[in-house]
Amino acid sequence: MIPIQSKLPGVGTTIFTVMSKLAADHNAINLSQGFPDFDCDPELVNYVAEAMKNGFNQYAPMAGTMELRNVIAAKTESTYGLAYDPETEITITSGGTQAIYTALAATINAGDEVIIFEPAYDCYSPTIRSLGGLVKPFELSAPDYEIDWNMVKKLFSVNTKMIILNSPQNPTGRILKENDIAELIKLTRNTDILILSDEVYEHIIFDGEAHLSMAQYPELRERSFIVASFGKLLHATGWKLGYCLAPDYLMKEFRKIHQFNVFSVNTPMQIGVAKYLSVPSRYLELADFFQQKRDLFRKLLTETKFNLLPCNGSYFQCVTYNKIGDLSDKEMAISLVKDFGVASIPVSAFYIRNTDHHVLRFCFAKKQETLEKAVERLVKL
Ligand SMILES: Cc1ncc(COP(=O)(O)O)c(C=O)c1O
Repeated sequence: MIPIQSKLPGVGTTIFTVMSKLAADHNAINLSQGFPDFDCDPELVNYVAEAMKNGFNQYAPMAGTMELRNVIAAKTESTYGLAYDPETEITITSGGTQAIYTALAATINAGDEVIIFEPAYDCYSPTIRSLGGLVKPFELSAPDYEIDWNMVKKLFSVNTKMIILNSPQNPTGRILKENDIAELIKLTRNTDILILSDEVYEHIIFDGEAHLSMAQYPELRERSFIVASFGKLLHATGWKLGYCLAPDYLMKEFRKIHQFNVFSVNTPMQIGVAKYLSVPSRYLELADFFQQKRDLFRKLLTETKFNLLPCNGSYFQCVTYNKIGDLSDKEMAISLVKDFGVASIPVSAFYIRNTDHHVLRFCFAKKQETLEKAVERLVKL
């Protein structure tokens, strides 16, 4: 064996893989990983198949097909009021994860510090570290995961290069509010700090709240990479299609990495998605669709001993379980899957230090009958 110096020593299989395997081994209902158990719209599949039959089977342009970039430009401008130039400020990626990787690879150098808000989606920290960057986690706490910006300020140093935000947030369902945006503007004004804004759940937001995108605040737009995912938007997580928005000077650097890593993304899917999303109701109705699922799941869970945490967006519902026991959240998740046949994710997995507030995350992007069957099992706890 040739010795290599691992870029990520200590990284093993993620909790998502572990829980999904346990779910399969125990024939459990899998509410752990974040993907729908229902299919995407057959019309969308027809559009992609039609593109393949019509011969769109060779490399797409490096930045993505113009049809899809135009649809994204129109959607972004009508939703947030600020325009992105499809020629120079929009790039189609192989999912949100690749957009995150590429934005970080384009900007983070050895010794740069990146502030993240935990509980955080799992790819941020390893990607930063693999690039030689330093992760500065700011830990948020259950039950409301509010951001204390005075404390965030203390994490800033001369080496702070970037802040990563995620709203609606996976796993907590928390959304950024106007006061968070005002603080962010204040904190970054007159600095060279970049923002990576993971907005993959932008259209899954509840109770009439508006998603506050970095795209709609000129001062933030100028320093932000915004990441989106068609997997979340179209119930097609397996397609791994997404995009990045950024002002042209940042996008220029993003594309330098993109063209030698991915080069270009699946052509027929881009053609099909562009045609499908030219009808705005197809993304505007997503909030209602998932709000019904959230409301149903929350109502069903009131029959259990779990305490429900707020859920303002995303398709995740977090719960605490102090009426059930004081096992660690990992032990609780393992017991749930082995003894009761329902898989969840322990939220400590989203903290570098595995901070345990005794919170579990369930994914409710599931058919009504799946949610009902899962809760039938959970009431036995
Ligand atoms: C917060 C967040 N960001 C990014 C992603 C990745 O998106 P994609 O599947 O398009 O790579 C996910 C997927 O679960 C997510 O929850």
